[in-house]
Amino acid sequence: MYRTHTCGELRIQHAGQTVTLAGWVQRFRKLGGMTFVDLRDRYGITQLVTEKEIALGREYVIQVTGQVVERESKNPKMPTGDVEVKIAEVKVLNKAQTPPFTIEELSDGGEDLRARYRYLDLRRPPLQRALALRHRLAQEIRTYLDGQGFMEIETPYLIKSTPEGARDFVVPSRMNPGEFYALPQSPQTFKQLLMVAGYDRYFQIVRCFRDEDLRADRQPEFTQIDCEMSFVEQEDVLNTFEGMMRTMFRNALGVEIPDPLPRMSWYDAMDRYGSDKPDIRFGMEIREVGDLVKGHGFSVFDGAEYVGAIAVPGCAEYTRKQLDELTEWVKRPQVGAQGLVYIKLNPDGSIKSSVDKFYAPADLQAVADRAGAATGDLVLVMCGPMRKTQTRLGVLRIEMGNRLGLRDPKVFAPLWIVDFPLLEWSEEDGRFYAMHHPFTAPKPEHEKWFYSDRKEDLERVCANAYDFVLNGTELGGGSIRIHEAAMQERMFEVLGISKKDAEYKFGFIINAFKFGAPPHGGLAFGFDRVCALFGGQETIRDFIAFPKNNQGRDVMIDSPSRIDQTQLDELCLDIRARQ
Ligand code: AMO
Repeated sequence: MYRTHTCGELRIQHAGQTVTLAGWVQRFRKLGGMTFVDLRDRYGITQLVTEKEIALGREYVIQVTGQVVERESKNPKMPTGDVEVKIAEVKVLNKAQTPPFTIEELSDGGEDLRARYRYLDLRRPPLQRALALRHRLAQEIRTYLDGQGFMEIETPYLIKSTPEGARDFVVPSRMNPGEFYALPQSPQTFKQLLMVAGYDRYFQIVRCFRDEDLRADRQPEFTQIDCEMSFVEQEDVLNTFEGMMRTMFRNALGVEIPDPLPRMSWYDAMDRYGSDKPDIRFGMEIREVGDLVKGHGFSVFDGAEYVGAIAVPGCAEYTRKQLDELTEWVKRPQVGAQGLVYIKLNPDGSIKSSVDKFYAPADLQAVADRAGAATGDLVLVMCGPMRKTQTRLGVLRIEMGNRLGLRDPKVFAPLWIVDFPLLEWSEEDGRFYAMHHPFTAPKPEHEKWFYSDRKEDLERVCANAYDFVLNGTELGGGSIRIHEAAMQERMFEVLGISKKDAEYKFGFIINAFKFGAPPHGGLAFGFDRVCALFGGQETIRDFIAFPKNNQGRDVMIDSPSRIDQTQLDELCLDIRARQ
C-alpha cells in the first residue's frame, strides 16, 4: 500500500498513529533546525515535520511514514491544521523540474502559461474543487433521471451536417473520398429518432461541437445534459427538469430554489429586461417612456420608434466625466447605442438632465416616476428601434448591476422563459430563421398563422419553447417538437429550404415521422455553464479539464495542427496556399 491515509484526512483523533502518506511537495521551509513540508494531494494538505536534512524540491512526489502528532501552533484555516506528521521515513517516488508557476490556491502564472501546463494547473485546489463539483453534479443528474425512468443512450459523433445556427466542424472520410462527416452541434435529430423508436425517456451527458466565436461561456466543444420525452406537454417537461435542477441545487449546494419557479414570457423578458435571459437578482427594469417624451421638440425622441428608461439606484452623483464615459461605453460597437440621455434626481430634490432645454422639471419627473426612480437615482434613457433599444438598455442594465455589486454569484435566481416566437425574421438575409431550431412546433392555437403566407402572420406564431435561465445566463433550452412529416416539411418551406435541400439534409427525419412518431419534446442544459454558475463563476473554462483558449486552440497539445502529406493524400485533400 502506497498510503494509509490521504493528505486531507488526518485529524486530532489520529494523534499517536503511525501513518503513510503520498503526494506532492507544495512547499517546504526550514525553521530553527526543523524542516516543514506541505504535502498535497487532491484531498488536501498535511504538514510534515522533521529534524533531519532532507533533499526535496517543489512538486517532488514523495512517500512518508511517521507519527501523527498534535501541532504546537495549530492552523484553524486548514482541515488538517491541528496535526502534523513527524517524518520517520521519506522516499522520493519521483523528482520534478521546478514548475513554471506556483501551484497553490492562487497562482503567479499567467493564463497562457497555465494553459500550456494544464496538468500542473489542475493540481491547484480551485480547479480540483471545480472538477469535483462537476463530478458531483453529473452523479446527481444520473441518479435523478434514472429515478424518473430515463435511459442513458449514446448517439454518434460522426454524423451528417444538420446545422442549428452555428457552423459545423467536419471530418473527412478516408473510405469515402470527397465526403465528410459533421460533428454534432447537439444530438437533436437522434434523440427525436429515439422517440420514434419508442425510448420515451432518453438522456445523455454528451459532447457537442460548434464552430462559433468563443466567449466566456462558450467552448467549441462543450457538454450538454440532453433529454427528450414522449407523450408529454410543455408542463410535463418543465416540471421534470425543474425537479432535476431543484435536486441539484439542494444536494450539491444546499440551496433551496423557489417552488414553483417563476415563469416569464419571452415578450415580457424583452420588454422589462431587454434580454431573453434576464438577471432577476435585481430590479432596474426597463420602462417605455415614449408617450411621455414625444412632442416636446426633441427631434431625437420624436422620430424614434421606441424610447425606454432605467433607474439606476443611488447614482445621481455621477459626475460629468463618469456620464461621458458611460455614454462612450454604450456607443461601443458591442452595445451599439447612438447616445444616452440622463436625468439626475439630486439628493437636494433638484432635477438635472442632458435634455433640460426641451423638458420642464415636471416632464422629467414623470419619466423618472415611470422608471421607478427615487431621490438620489440616475435615470438613463435610450431610443431607437424597439427590440434593439431594449437590448441595449438590457446590456446597460447588466453593466450597472455589475458596477453596483448587485450580481452576487452566491445568490441564485432561476426562472423559465416561455412562449418564444417560433420564427425570427432576418432583414439581412430576407428570410425567416427558426428562433430555437427547425424541429420546434408552433403552438397548436397558432397553427393557422403558421400555414399563412403573410409575413405578419408568421411573425405572430409562438412555440411551446422554453429556456432555463439563471442569473442572466441561458443554462438550457428546449421545446415541444414537430412530429408530423407534413408539418416538418412546411417548416422547411417557411425557412426557405427547398424541397430538394430538405430531402437531402433532413430526409431521414421526415421519413421517420411517417412511421408513427409520438408527440414529444425535450430540452438540453449546457452542463459546463451549470457547473460554472453553481461554482459561482461566469467562465466555463475552469470547469472543463482540458478546455480550448479564445482562439479555439489547445495550447498544451498544440492543436489544431497540420497533418502529414500522407494523411492528406489518403483523404484526397489538397490544402490551398494561404492568400
Ligand atoms: P441549444 O442550442 O439552446 O439547444 O443548447 C442548449 C444549451 O447548451 C449550452 N451551449 C453551450 N455551452 C457552452 N459552449 C457553447 N458553445 C454552447 N452552445 C450552447 C447552453 C444552451 O442553453 N438541441 C437543442 C436542445 C433541445 O431543443 O432539446 C439545443 O442544442 O447552455
